[in-house]
Amino acid sequence: MKGIILAGGSGTRLHPITLAVSKQLLPVGDKPMIYYPLAVLMLTGIKDILIITTPADLPQYRDLLGDGSHLGLRITYAEQDRPRGIAEALVIGADHIGSDSVALALGDNIFHGNQFSDTLAENAADIHGCVLFGYSVQDPERYGVGVTDENGRLLSIEEKPTHPRSNRAITGLYFYDNDVVDIAKNTQPSARGELEITDVNRVYVERGRARLVELGRGFAWLDTGTPESLLQAGQYVRTLEERQGVRIACIEEIALRMGFIDADSCYRLGERLSNSGYGKYVMAIAAEFAQNPATTAEGAEEIRTASR
Ligand code: G1P
Repeated sequence: MKGIILAGGSGTRLHPITLAVSKQLLPVGDKPMIYYPLAVLMLTGIKDILIITTPADLPQYRDLLGDGSHLGLRITYAEQDRPRGIAEALVIGADHIGSDSVALALGDNIFHGNQFSDTLAENAADIHGCVLFGYSVQDPERYGVGVTDENGRLLSIEEKPTHPRSNRAITGLYFYDNDVVDIAKNTQPSARGELEITDVNRVYVERGRARLVELGRGFAWLDTGTPESLLQAGQYVRTLEERQGVRIACIEEIALRMGFIDADSCYRLGERLSNSGYGKYVMAIAAEFAQNPATTAEGAEEIRTASR
């Protein structure tokens, strides 16, 4: 399975913060926002990831993440010169996807919850159709909204409906089989001139091939679109991290626990950041892991319960 992170857009609801800085590079807690969707793809087991962003912002993402080899990943980049919709990511990323399945993650969606990596791995295996992730919210009219049958099969999906038929928002993480490339290419722009992801998903719904996985009430799916929600997301992350002494979406730790890099490499990544608490955490995790690699399974369990 290939991965795509869409980190485009102009973040106008965050102006003036985002006048000169890409939204998905803003801090959430003590790390850039894009670490969170990157962590989700890594926990799914995906190593080949395309980051799509604006021409102006692309150099900064490259400075931050490079070619990904330090994390045992292959990270490449592509431009979306102006916001033409989420589904355009699947057209821009068509060569990257090739004949594979794909996980598309929005660069500003933050997920955190117990056993999430199990949920991801289970649903990424052997995809026929699409798998979407639903979350109950009190303001569904702000999102894509789905209605399912008792087995989780999606019966309908609407984008930002005035009168939502359920309170189940469709989150910004989408798993697709390879048909999605053709579906996205054949999608017509909406009235606002964008390729809507909900139109792509609706094709799967009509084919009876769209499944919704419920993220339950113990789960956090956080918004980062406004100054208040951005601050709240950061506070949520820091509250859990400080209480438990773990880090959420620490990509170096995830690379280590997933077996993408070894403990020495991980330690060196931490050393480069050793002036910060984040860097010290990476070094401590790597040192602990090197001393007792037998705790790998235990560590993986911790990742399941701690880091998203
Ligand atoms: C987009 C999608 C919407 C989805 C949301 C998740 O909306 O169009 O279906 O629920 O992302 O974050 P946007 O945030 O672009 O308004």
